[in-house]
Amino acid sequence: MHRGNDGSMNWNGLEIPDNPYFYDEDVVIYNADCREILPRLLDKSIDLVLTDPPYNLSSYSTGNMELSWRKTINNDLAEWDLNSFEPAEWLSDFMRVLKPTGNIFAFTSYNLMGKWHEVFDPAFDTFQYMVWHKTNPVPKIRRAGFLNSCELIICVWDKGHTWNFTNQKEMHNFIQSPICMGNERVKNPVHPTQKPLKVLEHIIKLASDEGDTVLDPFLGSGTTAVASKLLNRKCIGIEISEKYCEIAVKRLSQQVMKLNIKEQPDA
Ligand SMILES: C[S@@+](CC[C@H](N)C(=O)[O-])C[C@H]1O[C@@H](n2cnc3c(N)ncnc32)[C@H](O)[C@@H]1O
Repeated sequence: MHRGNDGSMNWNGLEIPDNPYFYDEDVVIYNADCREILPRLLDKSIDLVLTDPPYNLSSYSTGNMELSWRKTINNDLAEWDLNSFEPAEWLSDFMRVLKPTGNIFAFTSYNLMGKWHEVFDPAFDTFQYMVWHKTNPVPKIRRAGFLNSCELIICVWDKGHTWNFTNQKEMHNFIQSPICMGNERVKNPVHPTQKPLKVLEHIIKLASDEGDTVLDPFLGSGTTAVASKLLNRKCIGIEISEKYCEIAVKRLSQQVMKLNIKEQPDA
């Protein structure tokens, strides 16, 4: 890693902005608004944008439900979801930093799907979507409607993109996994939308190769960084909230400890 006088540093052969919150040989994390960092990333330097931006769902929330027989049902997302997210504002930076062989995968919600399509479909050769089916969604206590058991992920790329097609059975645009629970779920503080590693690992394996660079400008608790590290990819993550950056770094160091334990030769 070399530092330049121009506020940049060289990390794995890439010129990236200096003063990250954290870095090691595989992962760089900035505690910043991604609007400040994204314009400073080099053109065609990213193999996969894998991200989970705000959903603009807070205005639909009916508030938390206090129930005597079970723990509170949390319907309020978070403060960061009160700021409006417009897919159109991200198109030019995502296109500019992406390599011609690159892919973009972004979690979104039903209310934003049309906006993503309107802007990203004309700009790329292909626009598809995946569905993550949550096998343990929040119950619908009043039984007046569907459970919110599916989350959408938009997928875009140009011809010649990296694509590790396995077999027809494994290439459905559908994946099932419980929401994050047990040891995987970070506590104190909890991140309300921590994604399961299983879902992100599936996407990273399909849409990038070992040694590739993954970008997540809305890193949250660091799931993309942890999954990238586990799969021998590099990751640049940006997260505006310091408390979530702290979680991400803690998760990464726990992961490194686990990897080191695995790599130790038998006594
Ligand atoms: C849906 S969450 C991501 C959750 C993540 N996938 C995980 O597994 O923990 C979106 C995150 O984006 C962050 N965020 C919102 N606006 C941002 C911005 N302008 N720049 C960087 N981060 C931002 C929020 O603080 C929040 O943690």
